Amino acid sequence: MRRKILFVDDEPMVLQGLKRMLRGMQNEWDMVFAESGEEALAILGATPFEVMVTDMRMPGMHGAALLEKAQKRFPKLVRIVLSGHSDQGLILKSVRTAHQYLSKPCDADTLKDTVSRACALRELLKDDMLKQVVSNIGTLPSLPRLYQEIMKELQSEDASMRKVAEIVSRDVGMTAKVLQMVNSAFFALPRHIASIAQAVNLLGLETIKALVLSAQIFRRFEVQGIPMSFLEKLWNHCLGTATFAKAIAKEENLSREVIDDAFLGGMLHDLGKLILFMGFPEKYRAILKRSGENGISLGEVEQEVLGTTHGAVGAYLMGLWGFGDNVVEAIAFHHEPGICSAKTAGALACVHAANDLEHAFGPEGIRREWAHADLDFFNSVGCVEKLDRWVQVCESAIQ
Ligand SMILES: [Fe+2]
Ligand SMILES: [Fe+2]
Repeated sequence: MRRKILFVDDEPMVLQGLKRMLRGMQNEWDMVFAESGEEALAILGATPFEVMVTDMRMPGMHGAALLEKAQKRFPKLVRIVLSGHSDQGLILKSVRTAHQYLSKPCDADTLKDTVSRACALRELLKDDMLKQVVSNIGTLPSLPRLYQEIMKELQSEDASMRKVAEIVSRDVGMTAKVLQMVNSAFFALPRHIASIAQAVNLLGLETIKALVLSAQIFRRFEVQGIPMSFLEKLWNHCLGTATFAKAIAKEENLSREVIDDAFLGGMLHDLGKLILFMGFPEKYRAILKRSGENGISLGEVEQEVLGTTHGAVGAYLMGLWGFGDNVVEAIAFHHEPGICSAKTAGALACVHAANDLEHAFGPEGIRREWAHADLDFFNSVGCVEKLDRWVQVCESAIQ
């Protein structure tokens, strides 16, 4: 299927350069080029597009205004910024409307990969309504008490980096947003960052303040009718799964990068539940109520009612936000690792095991039942004899 991609830039030379650079993609992409925000909106209004790649500094309607209008009128559209570093002020205005950032000059491979990945991700969610709900999410809600804590810390005169990092790393929504920002081309950091402490250090307190206090990248959870106990439980489960996944990855002597991905995958693995609750509160409450009855799993009920699972929904958003394949796969397949095409004992294996162990964790420690684990998968990646040892390392990780 040919993809429809719209490029927007006020400089004809830049558009010419893009046309030349992407000539090889003509068989796969229908590419349309617009010289202004106004022209882009007219084109988008006439025919549906999948991805828009836009400049920020443009006369008339600037990129941030275009992104905002496009988000409202064409919510399914994947919105990517391609701009120069001098446009930071404008970019700050787009932190809730752009999915990803690329910086000029951008090489052909990076541009092709970013757009192709965004297109491929769309296959994860078939339903248009769901795509619309998820693509529209610019910030994720935070647990109210953690939101209060971070605002208080950032507004105080002696705010500390260590304290800020510590609060962010306890919140699912803040973790996702900070890592999306720190890894975007906007900050032009040389390598991939998966740890919050590192992210906060690299961004610095002033940038974090600007992002949180002016650009409002965090927000308090305010969906009516969701019991606070549900949120507290979900947050504890995510943090526990992250801690276990990291302990398992360390035990396996995996690289620093995979250990960070395992932690992050654990932290974000159930993010889809939050998204579905926000998007369809009534329906999702009924889904949660029905799951567990007559031994039906949550995934089965989600699939039946929504045609997808919380794993796919969370993975879709994190993919749109530019998270790496390892983290996206760990989220997408945390209940069914066997259907992931990559068969390795990496972040996904750690998160799959950690999720099960966290559910089996009680006052007497961890019950060794592996009730929901895919033992065939662990066998296929050579980990099945290690499972007992993993229970021990997870138990030590929380003592
Ligand atoms: Fe889950
Ligand atoms: Fe879970």
